[in-house]
Amino acid sequence: MIKFKLNGKIVETDAPATARLLDILRDELDLIGTKEGCGEGECGACSVFVNNLLQNSCLIPIGSIAGADVQTIEGILETDQFKILDECYSIAGGVQCGYCIPGMIMASAALLTKNPHPSEEDIRDGISGNLCRCTGYNMIVEAIHLAARKGDGIWQRK
Ligand code: FES
Ligand code: FES
Repeated sequence: MIKFKLNGKIVETDAPATARLLDILRDELDLIGTKEGCGEGECGACSVFVNNLLQNSCLIPIGSIAGADVQTIEGILETDQFKILDECYSIAGGVQCGYCIPGMIMASAALLTKNPHPSEEDIRDGISGNLCRCTGYNMIVEAIHLAARKGDGIWQRK
């Protein structure tokens, strides 16, 4: 039995230690906001926070998660950070098919928490692990610039 904190609540699973965190989230715990793209750590669609660090859940064996604090996109929906990002992605037209967006939002929040006033280069670097097939990235970069400006003061992690 593996126990960990997920979006603020303790959960447990009987899955084998080698099962991927991504699969446990989606198939066992019904948290389908976290997406599978490449399954190889290249696209960022499966991004989650583990102990406040951005990680690709497709690369994490559940056995390594015992006692950890995991947050998915569902766990940040009520935060001011999510609300600002949601609004700014919408204003900037940063969402097309939407598949990459949960991972992009997680990467954006991780970036702005670490660096509330990023340059364009910082932003491109911060989302470099997240692929988007639709937008060409410029609208996503604009969304993060806007979120930095509109959300000034809210990016310190509580
Ligand atoms: Fe995990 Fe692509 S599905 S990085
Ligand atoms: Fe379609 Fe990014 S909006 S992959």
